[in-house]
Amino acid sequence: MAESMKGLKRTHRCGELGAANIGEQVTVMGWVQKQRNKGGIIFVDLRDRAGILQVIFEEADCGAEDFAKAERLRSEFVAAVTGKVEKRAGAVNANLSTGEIEVRAESLRILSEAETPPFPIEENSRTKEELRLKYRYLDLRRPDLQRNLMLRSRMTAAVHAFLEEEGFLEVETPILNKSTPEGARDYLVPSRIHQGCFYALPQSPQIFKQLLMCSGYDRYFQIARCFRDEDLRADRQPEFTQIDLEMSFVDQEDVLDVTERMVAKVCKETVGLEVPLPLKRMTWDEAMNRFGSDKPDTRFGMELTDVSETVKGCGFGVFTSALEAGGSVRGINVKGQAQMPRKKIDTLVEFAKGYGVKGLAYLAVLPDGSYKSSFAKFMTEEELKSLVAAMAGEPGDLLLFAADKLKLVWSVLGALRVELAKQLGMLDPNQYNFLWVTQFPQFEWSDEEERYVAMHHPFTMPMEEDLEILESDPGKVRAKAYDIVVNGMELGGGSVRIFQDDIQERMFQALGFTKEKAHEQFGFLMDAFKYGVPPHAGLAIGLERFVMLLAQTDNIRDVIAFPKIKDASCLMSEAPGTVDVKQLEELHLQVTE
Ligand code: AMO
Ligand code: AMP
Repeated sequence: MAESMKGLKRTHRCGELGAANIGEQVTVMGWVQKQRNKGGIIFVDLRDRAGILQVIFEEADCGAEDFAKAERLRSEFVAAVTGKVEKRAGAVNANLSTGEIEVRAESLRILSEAETPPFPIEENSRTKEELRLKYRYLDLRRPDLQRNLMLRSRMTAAVHAFLEEEGFLEVETPILNKSTPEGARDYLVPSRIHQGCFYALPQSPQIFKQLLMCSGYDRYFQIARCFRDEDLRADRQPEFTQIDLEMSFVDQEDVLDVTERMVAKVCKETVGLEVPLPLKRMTWDEAMNRFGSDKPDTRFGMELTDVSETVKGCGFGVFTSALEAGGSVRGINVKGQAQMPRKKIDTLVEFAKGYGVKGLAYLAVLPDGSYKSSFAKFMTEEELKSLVAAMAGEPGDLLLFAADKLKLVWSVLGALRVELAKQLGMLDPNQYNFLWVTQFPQFEWSDEEERYVAMHHPFTMPMEEDLEILESDPGKVRAKAYDIVVNGMELGGGSVRIFQDDIQERMFQALGFTKEKAHEQFGFLMDAFKYGVPPHAGLAIGLERFVMLLAQTDNIRDVIAFPKIKDASCLMSEAPGTVDVKQLEELHLQVTE
């Protein structure tokens, strides 16, 4: 039987009380974490989002009726307690913010009872995630998830305050849009009124924020929901949130400056993390060549070495044929791991194959200077010596090589390096290596479409010094595009936009768009540009990734209240679901087998 709150007013959250409140009379409300009945005395841990508080019931203080109620308390009952804050009689609990005190109850009301939950509500739950996601409203009671969402809220508050201060206006942009292919697949919404027509949910507010620049809003931001129907990974969700911004009359430097100051401020104000500014910068070329990744984790070395020149003409066919086919041979030096068991090396080879290479060649330089290798037998002593020297290999080192198309070699060694660092415990979770990766290629060759596609998007400005080779050598054109990267994760990215129509036209041409097709897809933006457009640039940060970083979790679901699982469904609401035939008819839709 539930009692009412009539006449009661909460004075504090459970977790807010401390030694400073000793002697005060307080009223707290929350969920019962635990009830322990020790005969004449009952201990109850009461929990709310601020923390856990110990309450003591003795008949002499609270009377027989309320003591009897306290005996009935079970986990997850919702209760209101009025009583006096006292210094804790038993041992101080250093794990709790309220660990020095307890509340001696004078009255109790049971506001609501609870069935036994399907799993215990506790920090670092070991319950399977599927079950927890099905009962997400219970899982969300866990202090660790509550801390993450509170952190997220403090972060967006800090973003708002900072951008306001910097003269940004918050403007909302539509969710129901026209489909404009922007990379990922669109989520579509059928129109009832316009038979056969569909809205698309925004993959990002990109076009609208550029229009807002045309309209004179000067500095825009939005904590924007975005939707992308792509294959989910550990750091991806079908709907997610961007800290999206755009600025007028600026160049790349201005965007990098505002962004890094925002990131540093949010880190400092929410978790006290000091981010030294300015952030380091690295060109895309350097990132790829040294780390095999455009989002390098620079917390450890194990950098890539190009040994193509060294092994040119050697006796190992795998290397020479890759080079003859226009590929590359590169390696990493895993310091001190020459004794890695064969079995473990085999799992690394399998890992590498997962990235599409046919194999991984290894050479262990044993402490006595001899070699253990998958290919040494194909090489002369001289060739091996110069290879080891090129890799700065010393006795005790394990050298790993991939030979294939350069793009593939980068991606496999880039991933292998991170995997090994993980396995060897080389990643310091308390080190945050932020950096900017700049000068991305303007275009990326798509084997599938047999044409160049925009690496960022078609409105990205090429570097001025590369404009002259836009037609003759598009693969070499670098863009005024930038990503902010931390510990191997792409936190955000953006670019300077094209605002001159002659350059935009050349871009569309290079991308194989006809004038008509470009107009059909981006017509209103191109039209807007005809009526006076300021130079502009911007960027978007993935909010969830930012929160994951500061919450130190590698599961994106830990920072979203109601997330989706890998197949883009929600285990709690069971979305997506089927709908009535009538609803379909209204939308002029029919489901085929
Ligand atoms: P981009 O596509 O790089 O740029 O996205 C910016 C940032 O958004 C985050 N992000 C995601 N987070 C979670 N789940 C996803 N599925 C997901 N996809 C992207 C990443 C990424 O760095 N309009 C441009 C920005 C601009 O040019 O101003 C854009 O959307 O952290
Ligand atoms: P194979 O000649 O296929 O038996 O390969 C000999 C060695 O070279 C094995 O250790 C393979 O794992 C390795 N290897 C095969 N293909 C590649 C490649 N593309 N890059 C690096 N090593 C490779």
